[in-house]
Parts: sequence; C-alpha cells; structure tokens
Amino acid sequence: MTVPWLARDLIAEAVGHLDEPAADYFFGAADRGELMQRNYQGWQRFSIAPAYLSRPPRASSGTTFLGRHLDTPLVVAPVAFQSILDPAGEPGLAFAAGVAGFGYTISTRSSRRLSAISDAFELGQCIDAAEIDGLDEDHRTLLESFAGQRHGELWLQVYQTKDHDFVSQLLDTGAEVGVKAAALTIDTPYLGARYRDRIHGFSPMDRIKEVLTSQDQDGPAFGDGFSREAIDQATELDLDGFVHDCHERGINPIFKGVLSLVDLEAMRERATPPPVTPWISNHGGRQSDLLPTTAEALSLLRDSLGGGDCIVDGGIGDPTDAVCALALGASVVAIGRPVMAAYALGGVLAATEYLIEFRSQLVRQLTILGYASPRQIEPRAVRLRLEQGRAADV
Ligand SMILES: Cc1cc2nc3c(=O)[nH]c(=O)nc-3n(C[C@H](O)[C@H](O)[C@H](O)COP(=O)(O)O)c2cc1C
Repeated sequence: MTVPWLARDLIAEAVGHLDEPAADYFFGAADRGELMQRNYQGWQRFSIAPAYLSRPPRASSGTTFLGRHLDTPLVVAPVAFQSILDPAGEPGLAFAAGVAGFGYTISTRSSRRLSAISDAFELGQCIDAAEIDGLDEDHRTLLESFAGQRHGELWLQVYQTKDHDFVSQLLDTGAEVGVKAAALTIDTPYLGARYRDRIHGFSPMDRIKEVLTSQDQDGPAFGDGFSREAIDQATELDLDGFVHDCHERGINPIFKGVLSLVDLEAMRERATPPPVTPWISNHGGRQSDLLPTTAEALSLLRDSLGGGDCIVDGGIGDPTDAVCALALGASVVAIGRPVMAAYALGGVLAATEYLIEFRSQLVRQLTILGYASPRQIEPRAVRLRLEQGRAADV
C-alpha cells in the first residue's frame, strides 16, 4: 500500500481512519497544542554542512548505544494503548519495528502482555522479506538490502506507580523477555491538560476494555482486572530505587523527560557506573506548552552531555529531522505519532512499510550529505539557519 511519507500528511490521513475521540487522543496534545507543532518546526531551524570530499559510496545506519551495536539509531517511542489503533495492538507494531531493524519501547500502559510483544519483535527481526504477505516490490527489495542488519533493541517504559510491587514485577518480566533498557518517565507528576479528551469524556482505559473484550485477546501489560490502582502514579519518584532495581536486573536505566541542565545534573548524581541515560523529551507536547522544544533542549544540553549517549524524541516528522537530531548529539531518535498514524492507516503492513521507508531514506540522506554513518557527522557541521541571512554555530 502507499503510505503518505511526511508526518503531517500521514497524520491528516490517519485521523480519518479513527473516530474523533481516538484521533484526538493519539494526535492531540496539551493546552493549545502549540508545543506539538513547535517540536516539528524546531528541527527545521538547522542545516548541516556536507562532507562531499570524503563521501563514502553509501552510508550505513549502524550505530552504537551504551557500547552495543544497533543497526539503526531509530526506536519506536512508548505509546500507550495501541490496540485502539489496530486490533493487532502492540505485538503488531513491535513486529513492524523488528522487520525494519528499529528498536521498540513497550509502554507501561501497553494493552498486551510483554511476552507477546517480545515474541512479535523477535519474529519481525528474523522473518524473510518473502514471507511478509502484501509487501510491495520496492519495500521487499529495500528489506532484502537490510539482510543481516536488523538488530534493534526492545526497551521498557516505566511509570512509577503507588504499588511498588507492580513496578518490580514489570521490571522482572521485562528482564525475562529480554528488554535491554528501562526508561522511567519523569515528566508526568500530573497528566497535562488535554482538553479534547475531556470534552469527549474519553478514557483510553475504558476503550481498551471494550476492544480487548470484543476480541477476546490476552490482557494488558499492567495485569488483569484493569485496576486503576495498578496504574495510579506515585506522588513522588523514587529515582534511586529505580536505578537500583534496573542494575539488579542487568537493565540499563534511562530517565525520560530530561529537558534542562538542572535535571541533567540531578540525574548525574545517580550516575554510578553504569550511567543513567537521558531521554530528551517533552512527551510530544502532551504536558505543557511552556516547555522547550526538544530541538532547543538538545542544542542547549549537548555540550553538557560530553559525548555521552542520549535519546531524543518529539516532532521527528521525516528522516531529515532525525539526521538533525543525530547531528546535534542524539545517539538514538524515537518516533511516536507518525508511526502510530501509519498503524492506524493500514495496520501492520502500513507500519512496516513506513518504517522500512524511513530507515532507507535516513541512509540516503546521510549519503547525500557525505557522511558514512550517523556518528560521523561532526558537531561543527551543524548550523542554526538564521532567517536574517547569516548562519551561526549552535
Ligand atoms: C497517544 C500517546 C500516548 C503516549 N503514551 C506514553 C506512555 O505511555 N509513556 C510515555 O513515557 N510516553 C508516552 N507518550 C509520549 C511518547 O513516548 C513520545 O515522547 C512522544 O509521542 C514523541 O513525540 P512525537 O509523537 O512527536 O514523535 C505518548 C504519546 C502519545 C501521542
């Protein structure tokens, strides 16, 4: 199938495939929705100087994260309740990510069990292009060109709940199914004001109950009974406890929602080796319009990152945005809504084709710029595009 390529076209089309409350839940944001828009614009403020004279014949998307090899610097961001988008739910999207060599982050609020998601992810990573029914010829050829290079990682996103045992069990199960890193979301002491959800009286939890009952599928990641207590967030974050729990299970801890030097420094206080990795995110503009865009935050923090690993998300609308984020120092770039839009539009197949296309265009973009791989773009190559006509260093 033909999936629109740019996030704005993709999302516009996906909205028509969902009922209004579901579309507003997935593609809306907090307050006036301005930060969500500014996130997209943020990446467009940069240009990258090319390196034609040392240009390799073809770039590779391969990179490293915490010393481990990844075949792409791309990961699907944690997004709750994916069964609302497509009956295949999280396993369907994890499969698509596996096929394209993306990483996949399981949300605490996944509508399916972790074992089902991890099985699907692994299957995606090893399935042959020929075995995927309905894949068009171009994407089949592209996928064949990724042969042997489809290694991404499965991560888990964690909301700390009032019930500490719940988080421990979630991490235990995560370790059992092979998640490599766990991202504690630090930016939601309250949920942001999502007025459209309020107008509709939309509760994703209630919707998921209907979807799962009607399809008789296995239950959500947060356990049977859809108990609200199990997902009620703790009033205070136990950062040390989280880092400790991760280390005990051999999982790398990440803090998701770092946007300021204050938080980066507070995070470093917990940075006994192995370190905690920052995930620069404003929750896709779902918390407050007053927060900085992620492009702004990354360019502000990048000197303080000292070349260490970090993840960024928010407003990555096409591979040129991802290249900017990588050039600004991100090791891994996460994508939320556009992937969800492809999934809403045409299920597993559309999501698979979108991710294959995204990866191949990223490689093409790096080749056009003359860089061998994401890590090779030198910091001095990134410039802020000044509307006034003069370029400036970031
Ligand atoms: C519908 C929806 C649900 C989300 N659910 C979660 C979640 O469960 N946990 C979390 O840490 N972030 C969640 N996020 C935030 C994403 O992980 C990510 O930070 C954001 O979507 C990135 O911006 P983008 O959508 O512009 O790519 C959600 C975002 C959306 C749009």
